[in-house]
Amino acid sequence: LAPQPTVSDHAAFMFRSLLDRLRGRRAASTPPRSASVAPAPPPSAPAGRASRQPPEPPPVDQHDDAGIRWRGALIAAHEELWTGFTARRDYPDVEQLLTAVVRDPATAIRQLPTAARDALALCDAADVSRTRLAAALGKDPALVQALLRQANSAMLGGGRAPVLGVDAAIGRIGLAGTRAVVLANCVTGLLSNPGGAFAPMVAAIWDHMVRTGPLAHALAPAMGADPDEAFAVALLHDVGKLVIFDRLSALRTASRRDLMLPPGWISQALGMLHEPLGALAALRWGLGPAAADAIGRHHRAAETLPQDPLAETLFLAERVDHCARRGQVPDLLVLWDVGQLSGDLDAAAAILGEDPTVEVLEGDATRAA
Ligand SMILES: [Fe+2]
Ligand SMILES: [Fe+2]
Repeated sequence: LAPQPTVSDHAAFMFRSLLDRLRGRRAASTPPRSASVAPAPPPSAPAGRASRQPPEPPPVDQHDDAGIRWRGALIAAHEELWTGFTARRDYPDVEQLLTAVVRDPATAIRQLPTAARDALALCDAADVSRTRLAAALGKDPALVQALLRQANSAMLGGGRAPVLGVDAAIGRIGLAGTRAVVLANCVTGLLSNPGGAFAPMVAAIWDHMVRTGPLAHALAPAMGADPDEAFAVALLHDVGKLVIFDRLSALRTASRRDLMLPPGWISQALGMLHEPLGALAALRWGLGPAAADAIGRHHRAAETLPQDPLAETLFLAERVDHCARRGQVPDLLVLWDVGQLSGDLDAAAAILGEDPTVEVLEGDATRAA
């Protein structure tokens, strides 16, 4: 019997196929026979546009399994979004934005500046002492503020004496968590905010991620995940949305005008694209395949999902934050069912019962998601 194509095979095919189309060539092969995702129609770039593009650099993580998988997932989400968009003639900017986001993640997802990569490398260095790390990170006032804010958040610091220095903050947040705060701090400065009507959405996404980090850290033991890793992925779990806003901002600057987008379309695009884009950003910024997979599946919307403590922790933490923001008590039984969770429900309930979640969210209850 011939081997059956896998989802990875199909993702790789879609990935090659899109590159071929964007380079103005016909796809040279056919999709795997039993692939469950429909072959992708072209994103309808006007004839000749692709040929005016400079030669593309190798796509991000081309030779990496996770990179190929999430590139394929991004392309599939893009095709679904594009296929369902019927007002193409009225809104040509939609195609422009989608092409900018999907064409090449190596361009769409900005590379971190050298200084940021140096700071992250310091966090990754096995032989660096905490004192030396604290001294290096303590030179950036914004970073110090971010580290202290997280270390003293209600979920991480509740009931304990406040930490006042970077060294103690690193001890409380953990090395993986510190790396995530450093990365989030870099990403804050890296990605452009389109401003205007989108500014409150961008601010709300950041606030939501900053709150979800400590929640994930607290809930991780109940879900069988590592608290520091859970904190790290939660702190950046919706960063794919910020990548889209960054591209939107870049296009607006280039065209010197606001993009014309249908009412409500951006929310739909954010919802459908941000998981695979976030996964690709996690890979590009060195969070690793496990973090990328957790970020890429944090809504746990697929019919069947692998057991993944990190992704399950992330799903639960962000749902708890959404509930708290709306002033609702999370129904854990429903969340366990919807998210196909395998963690300890009673332990999670005890954690949430003990922790002053509402206090964490005080002042944010009226903000939009
Ligand atoms: Fe999300
Ligand atoms: Fe979220």
